[in-house]
Amino acid sequence: MEKTIDESAQGSALTLQEKKTNGRKLYIESYGCQMNFSDSEIVASILSNEGFNTTQELKEADLVLVNTCSIREKAELTVRKRLEKFNAIKKDRPHMKVGVLGCMAERLKHKFLEEEKIVDMVVGPDAYKDLPNLIQEIDEGRNAVNVILSKDETYGDVAPVRLNTNGVTAFVSITRGCDNMCTFCVVPFTRGRERSRDPQSIIDEVNDLWKKGFKEITLLGQNVDSYLWYGGGLKKDYDKASEMEKAMAVDFSQLLEKVALTQPRMRIRFSTSNPQDMTLDVIHTMAKYENICNYIHLPVQSGSNRILKEMNRLHTREEYFELIDNIRTIIPDCAISQDMITGFPTETEKDHQDTLSLMEYVKYDYGFMFAYSERPGTLAERKLDDDIPEAIKKRRLAEIIELQRQHCQERTEQHLNKVQEVLIEGTSKKSDEHWMGRNSQNTVAVFPKENYKVGDFVMVRMNSCTSATLKGEAVGYSKNSL
Ligand code: SAH
Ligand code: F3S
Repeated sequence: MEKTIDESAQGSALTLQEKKTNGRKLYIESYGCQMNFSDSEIVASILSNEGFNTTQELKEADLVLVNTCSIREKAELTVRKRLEKFNAIKKDRPHMKVGVLGCMAERLKHKFLEEEKIVDMVVGPDAYKDLPNLIQEIDEGRNAVNVILSKDETYGDVAPVRLNTNGVTAFVSITRGCDNMCTFCVVPFTRGRERSRDPQSIIDEVNDLWKKGFKEITLLGQNVDSYLWYGGGLKKDYDKASEMEKAMAVDFSQLLEKVALTQPRMRIRFSTSNPQDMTLDVIHTMAKYENICNYIHLPVQSGSNRILKEMNRLHTREEYFELIDNIRTIIPDCAISQDMITGFPTETEKDHQDTLSLMEYVKYDYGFMFAYSERPGTLAERKLDDDIPEAIKKRRLAEIIELQRQHCQERTEQHLNKVQEVLIEGTSKKSDEHWMGRNSQNTVAVFPKENYKVGDFVMVRMNSCTSATLKGEAVGYSKNSL
């Protein structure tokens, strides 16, 4: 039976009242991708049902959870350093328990307990619903491990507890895992095979966020364009679905449209797009709905066809250009950002020049650039020598970062003298008298506060800029605010 809004609001008020508290405090810290931050909100929700209250104060925590990242070696070292800090605190709080979640937990499994004595509990990304049992085990003095990956877990039925929220923007996860097997990447091993979340549970979450005052959501997945709902289960098992299930299937462009129509005043973003899976339908849907932001994060990793092949990225440089051209034709003011890796095994100076020339062609608005870091168990680690000296990786990285900085400056300048809609997210880091928000293209804008408030959609005239921040003045509310 369909619930009316009032009934469901009453329902959640009741559950809040009934919620037991166990008097214990949970401190949770997240590293790595947005998906980890989103997962931590699922974990906080599961544990709030067990009576835990979250705290921002490490020193008062009874249970410390760290949601970890394995993407590069440095990410893992950061977590290990953090564990040392927890160790120091535990000296004064011997009853404090420490659990590791996420990708490092999945990658290291039981080894984590041996390598880091401070760790009581190791929980992989698909095992969070088992946390109540695992916590009971550690309470009884045993270590606890669950790193089983799942075929169908999407946590679609868990209502996330929003952590460190600005009350305006939120993540909504739509897929888990990844089937792409890029040869450098550890994610398919740590997060398992790809599965999509029931569209109705996504819509419900979006409606709930709107009701709570949120104004912008980012649909999250390792590869959102690959979203495909046909009743649940692994994406790779789609061929085994019944004709009926296939007829009712929902792909990413259809999901995007549903979400855009559900809350026409909610801004919608999504991340990450993989060039090989992004369809023209998605781009047309973006163009059709004003509330879908004109911004695409479209990692390419390298501009060299030979390296793209070695990376098992299933498109060429030329196909990527075709996609970029299509985006520019269909959505002329669309911002595009990249992820890039320098020093992948066998990368030559010529390959590197290809990356620079690809960047010149696209002139990305923004970029996330990394030196290649060999990850245990990946195809690249097993088949290729990590043969590019660190100094060369770093030099190439510095070159692409410098080029990106110039492009960033050029792209940011293109917004000058325009009046654009900005959603206010909070106070500017640099000045208490200024608001900070983003335009549709995801460029940060700051402007004097006047009488506007957090969560307002405001029209801002862009007067000046640094390479990545616009400075302007408000000229009134956007029609979205009225
Ligand atoms: N599809 C994912 C990609 C996850 S990894 C997403 O949602 O963002 C994020 C980025 O980290 C990748 O795009 C890649 O540029 C970088 N990366 C992944 N593995 C890496 C490695 N072994 N060394 C250096 N950078 C890596
Ligand atoms: Fe990693 Fe490639 Fe998937 S970068 S997350 S294997 S799309």
